[in-house]
Amino acid sequence: MLKKLIGSPVGKKLVTGVTGLGLVAFVLLHMVGNLALLSGDQPYNEYAHFLTGLGPLFYAVELGLVAFFLFHIVTGIKIWIGKRNARPVGYDRYQTAGGPSRQTLASRSMIITGLILMVFLVFHVISFKFGPGGPGNADAAYVVAYDGAEPIRDLAKLVREKFSTPLYTFGYTAIMLLLILHLRHGVWSAMQSLGATKPSLTPAIYSVGGLLGAGIGIGFIFVPLAIYFNLI
Ligand code: HEM
Repeated sequence: MLKKLIGSPVGKKLVTGVTGLGLVAFVLLHMVGNLALLSGDQPYNEYAHFLTGLGPLFYAVELGLVAFFLFHIVTGIKIWIGKRNARPVGYDRYQTAGGPSRQTLASRSMIITGLILMVFLVFHVISFKFGPGGPGNADAAYVVAYDGAEPIRDLAKLVREKFSTPLYTFGYTAIMLLLILHLRHGVWSAMQSLGATKPSLTPAIYSVGGLLGAGIGIGFIFVPLAIYFNLI
């Protein structure tokens, strides 16, 4: 029964919607956590250490996150394939439909922005989480001890190093702009799938998606640019 529901077109939209909103909550928290670097390296490193120090709870959240990403990506690709099969030739010309359908550049490029973000995510986790000083990659140069306390990972050093290069700084900036596009349509689409279909609500939900996407993206972009231009 559950398998049948998840396999149906409506079920697939529900899965991408629920997992998408869960992932929005994660990226929002992640972005706010990154801003700890504005208060200095010590608070940032201590915050990251606090999270990893949560032990089983942290691993459970990580596992949930991996499951959410996998379900979101696989179902998103299936929805796109389903749509393609329904209209193999595609449209001659695109014109924004406006009104309730909200056909925009962001909506049509969900599969492309999504796939780019997926590749980015793998690269991102390898560079930072599993970078020097990370799990399975012990490196004494990326460890710091504050006020005689136990030494902890110097994640701030790694972040500063990466974002002192133009490739990382502007590469991340470009990807975060794609994230804004993806979230802008994604939040609205998820709310629709979860039942917020009243036409009078559409403009408000669409604005929430736009604001949330822009807020998260701009918050993320701020740290690399501030490091690159020596502002923090
Ligand atoms: C400027 C933008 C970003 C910066 C500076 C940044 C920084 C970091 C850092 C330093 C870590 C390692 C944390 C640790 O090992 O304790 C990390 C982990 C991670 N980031 Fe980002 N991040 C950014 C954007 C994103 C975006 C847009 C996503 C998702 C689409 C994302 C998803 C993740 C994930 C899934 C992890 C692994 C979490 C874990 O399992 O501990 N990050 N990020």
